[in-house]
Amino acid sequence: MKIFNRTLQGSSAISYAGLLEKIEILRSTLRWASKLERPEIEKLLRQSNALRDEVMQLSHKERFVKAAAAESPVADQPAGERRQALRERSFIFEGTFGDNPQLLDALEVAEKAAPTDLPVLIDGESGTGKELMAKVIHANGSRADKPYISVNCGAIPDNLLESELFGHKKGAFTGASNDRKGKFESAHRGTIFLDEIGELPLPGQVKLLRVLESHEIQRVGSDEPMVVDARIVAATNKDLRRLSAEGTFREDLFYRLSVIHVTLPPLRDRKDEIPLLFAYFGDEAAETLKRRPIKMTPRLRDFLLNYAYPGNIRELRNIIYRISCLAGDTADLAHLPEDIRPKPPASMLRNAASGAAGASIPASLSDAKRAASDEAERAFLERGLKEVGGTVAELARRCDMNRSHLQMLLKKHGIHSKDFRHPNPSKESTV
Ligand SMILES: Nc1ncnc2c1ncn2[C@@H]1O[C@H](COP(=O)(O)OP(=O)(O)O)[C@@H](O)[C@H]1O
Ligand SMILES: [Mg+2]
Repeated sequence: MKIFNRTLQGSSAISYAGLLEKIEILRSTLRWASKLERPEIEKLLRQSNALRDEVMQLSHKERFVKAAAAESPVADQPAGERRQALRERSFIFEGTFGDNPQLLDALEVAEKAAPTDLPVLIDGESGTGKELMAKVIHANGSRADKPYISVNCGAIPDNLLESELFGHKKGAFTGASNDRKGKFESAHRGTIFLDEIGELPLPGQVKLLRVLESHEIQRVGSDEPMVVDARIVAATNKDLRRLSAEGTFREDLFYRLSVIHVTLPPLRDRKDEIPLLFAYFGDEAAETLKRRPIKMTPRLRDFLLNYAYPGNIRELRNIIYRISCLAGDTADLAHLPEDIRPKPPASMLRNAASGAAGASIPASLSDAKRAASDEAERAFLERGLKEVGGTVAELARRCDMNRSHLQMLLKKHGIHSKDFRHPNPSKESTV
């Protein structure tokens, strides 16, 4: 936000003067040219593309950031207040957010963009909340009570793309046994969310561009154009600017889609949100799984607060659901997916191998306590299993424990109940 403000106050006048100058140069080149060859045309096109780029950037800032700055002195406002202000303006956001300035920027831009019909492009790594943001934009706009239609552009086979987006007439191609509405038609008066737009192949991009320009579609096999009024929100985890420089994404489509451009930061750049998300998903998982919200051991919490989350919020959400499902009252490192679970420190492995007596001193008091508690837990389970002859259900009943939790603990310690079964073959030993 600060960057934008600086641009507005400082260099925006200069930028406008610069722009005008470039336009004049372009105009005079055209005015005095009696005949233009292809290379000159290409050059002029490149110049006008660059100009368009600058105008887009400038107008984006003018329209949205200036408006935000005028309403509230955002740059001077502490982050906590910005967050509070968004909530107080009854901005609907199905989720939680912290004080990360980049995310607050994104939310404020989304808030401004929502009531308009302008196309929005949301980018960010996978799992950063792009789809959620698209729904938020829809929910805060005037089309909120109209359809919201989501299309995953990466998941449609090339030969079905046109029919999927624009529909088809009966008999238009083999297998088209009925007339069918496309996604654009379904989104009429509402919002169409074009997810993974970077995956759209070039022919699809051309067709999409045509619709964006004409606001008309044609079902495959029909020559009657139909007017559609769908607000476009697109998302991508790719850098479309780079793709268009490389020639795999049409530049003109990029500009059409990105009138408003919102970038969602990865979770590792907004770590202050992690504890909020624990609480948010902890409650959500508890409700779904009909249990009490999960608690975490300090070492698990510590691990999760510092983990890098390559899968971003989606990964964090999955972890919370997983531990809420697997753990009893309190989750620990053992409940984490194996591929991210930290290895126990070498000192602890040595302790375990050599037994408590004579072992090296644990690295910290909490390590020592944890090792002792693990050891007590293991001894308890082994003694119990011995008493009930390896019948897990019986042990669970006697200790008043949840059976699946007990199974989980056995797994954690690598204890096999069948090793404790009585040799008497007539004895039933269900697990
Ligand atoms: N700020 C947030 N608060 C709560 N949940 C969130 C937030 N952002 C994303 N999520 C959740 O994280 C998951 C991934 O988000 P999604 O929008 O599908 O990401 P993307 O489309 O970027 O891959 C979804 O379950 C979504 O509801
Ligand atoms: Mg997504």
